[in-house]
Amino acid sequence: MSQASSPTVLVAGSANLDFVVRAPRIPAPGETVLGGGFRTYPGGKGANQAVACARAGGVRTRMLVAMGQDAHAVPLLGSLQAAGVETELLKRDGAATGVAFVCLSEDGENAITVAPGANMTLSAADLPSLDGVACLLLQLESPLEAVTAWARRARAAGVKVVLNAAPACRLPEELLDAVDVLVVNEGELAAVAGIADPGRALAALAVPMVVVTLGGAGAVARRRDGRRWMQPAYDVVPVDTTGAGDTFCGALCAALARGADAGDAMREAAAAAALACTRAGAQTGVPARAEVLALVAAGRLRDGAALHARFPSPPTGSPT
Ligand code: RIB
Repeated sequence: MSQASSPTVLVAGSANLDFVVRAPRIPAPGETVLGGGFRTYPGGKGANQAVACARAGGVRTRMLVAMGQDAHAVPLLGSLQAAGVETELLKRDGAATGVAFVCLSEDGENAITVAPGANMTLSAADLPSLDGVACLLLQLESPLEAVTAWARRARAAGVKVVLNAAPACRLPEELLDAVDVLVVNEGELAAVAGIADPGRALAALAVPMVVVTLGGAGAVARRRDGRRWMQPAYDVVPVDTTGAGDTFCGALCAALARGADAGDAMREAAAAAALACTRAGAQTGVPARAEVLALVAAGRLRDGAALHARFPSPPTGSPT
C-alpha cells in the first residue's frame, strides 16, 4: 500500500527537547546526586508517539505541533521528518520550544519534569481538517480544553479517538465520552477512574476499549463487552525506559488504524515498547517494524503472573 492510500493517523500534541542525565539513582526530594554524562534527545509524548506510529509502518502519520522560534526546535523537527511524519507546525513567536529534564537511573527508570512552553499555546481552533483521517491520537501535554475539543470534533466526524491520558489527571466527562481507546499506566488509571484498585478502576470506566500498561509486567486491554487481552512483556534488558509508553501508544494506534485485531495490536505495541527500552533516548529508541515483527516471532515473553495478580479474571457472568 502506498503512503497516500494508507490509513491516516493524526497526532496532536507536544514535542520537547529532552535534557537527560544518567545517575546512580533518581534523587529523593532535597537530595543532590552526582550523575554521569549529559545528552539531549528529541522527545515529548506527542512527537514520540508520532515517530512510533510512523515507524510502525502501514499508515500515513501527520502531526499537529507547536514550537518556538529557537534552536531547540531544530532537532525536534528533524526527528519527526526523518521518521516520515508530515508535520503541521505552528511556530510561536515569544514562546519557547518545550523542554523536559530527565533523570535516568542505572536500571533505566526515569523521573521527568516538563517545561511545556509552546505546547501549551495549542488551542481548539488549531486542529487541521479531519478529512481522510482514520484515527486521532492525543495525550495530555497540551491544554485540556483543546484536547477535549479535538476529541469531540473527531468523534462527531466519525474518526476513532485514541487518548493516552499522560501526564495523569482527572478527565472531564465530555472528553472521556469522546474517547474510543484509552491508554493509561497504573497511576493514570487510578487518577482517571478515581479508584486506587486497578481491577475495579478498569471495570468502572465506560470507554469502549481501555488499555493499561504495566511496564515490565506487560499490558492488559479490556473491551466494553468484557473481553480481555492479557499481554505479558517481551523479555529484554532495559537501559532507558523513557518514551517506552509512547512507543506502545504509537505502535498500538498504527496497528488499529491498519485494521489489526486487538490481540495483534497489543503484541506489536508490547514488542515495540520492549525494544524501545533497550536503547537510549525517546525517539532514538523507537524500533522499525521489521525488528518488532522479529521480536514477536521470537516470542520471548516474561511470566504473566504479575499481570494476572493485578487484574484477576472477573467471576464468570459478572460485568467487567
Ligand atoms: O513520555 C516520555 C516523554 O515525556 C519525554 O520524551 C519527555 O519529553 C516527556 O514529554
